[in-house]
Amino acid sequence: MDGVTDLSFRRLIRELSGGNAPLFVSEFLSTGSPIFLTPANLRALRFDKEEEPFCMQVFGNNAEKLASAAAQAQGLGAAFVELNAGCPARKVSSKGSGAGLLRDLPNMQRILRAMKSAIKVPLLMKCRLGWDETSLCINEVLEIAEGEGVERLTIHGRTKAQGYKGQANWNAIGEVAAKAKIPIIGNGDINSLEKAMDAIKNYGVKGVAIGRAALRNPWIFNPSAKVDVCSVVLRYNELMLQDGFSPMQALGRLKQLCSRLCEDMPEFRSGILRAQSTSEFLQFFEPLR
Ligand SMILES: Cc1cc2nc3c(=O)[nH]c(=O)nc-3n(C[C@H](O)[C@H](O)[C@H](O)COP(=O)(O)O)c2cc1C
Repeated sequence: MDGVTDLSFRRLIRELSGGNAPLFVSEFLSTGSPIFLTPANLRALRFDKEEEPFCMQVFGNNAEKLASAAAQAQGLGAAFVELNAGCPARKVSSKGSGAGLLRDLPNMQRILRAMKSAIKVPLLMKCRLGWDETSLCINEVLEIAEGEGVERLTIHGRTKAQGYKGQANWNAIGEVAAKAKIPIIGNGDINSLEKAMDAIKNYGVKGVAIGRAALRNPWIFNPSAKVDVCSVVLRYNELMLQDGFSPMQALGRLKQLCSRLCEDMPEFRSGILRAQSTSEFLQFFEPLR
């Protein structure tokens, strides 16, 4: 997840998951620059041995660039390369990238074909149900994906127009899963192990992808783990500093994480968000130890 699931956050999740999080995916990587391996992308492409098999996700609108990026990702050790066809952000989708591909299926097809011929590792795709309610295209997307050799399709059960609002349409995901020849991974609003198991049982998906719930609850993959928020915060800070974050950069990320963890505690939350230094921030957690 862009801006969140960098190496240190994934390390945190992995440590908390007790081995239960089966596949880690990079943040999505832009293919918009003349070269793919920009310093920012090189940084985002780093992964730990323990994360293998690791999936690298790319986005863009140009088949040649995406094919070249896919080959370079494979060269850096990606076990899977995934095309993002779901990002609704205006700066991405308005340029025909991310969910923008749902409005230009011929280009999606060109891109998948080019990427597929550039790599030996499995090609995956993540998409939404369509651009908006009036232009649902998930059936066509499935046909294209299967025809172009995509080996797994993750479907977020919303349209681009919905953004993150409303409820994910799991019936629509289930209808696609019922006819698909490739494994379908369902995505949208899964925030507990029970919901994940129900989705797999009731909608015929081969698995689920968990996004925002892992931001509010980094130990979601291991519900039986005994963890306290304080040690999670300290550990995340340590991991970011080890990974070269400045203390102020790490403080920004700590605030992001904790404001999500503490959504139900508005006073506490506004206190931590005002902290000017890591030590001031960590003091809020002392009483919880
Ligand atoms: C901050 C943020 C960043 C995201 N970045 C990505 C991304 O880089 N790639 C991707 O496929 N999806 C990304 N997503 C979408 C999620 O992966 C997921 O599809 C969506 O949030 C719905 O699932 P959920 O209800 O489990 O969160 C992002 C979502 C959020 C909120």
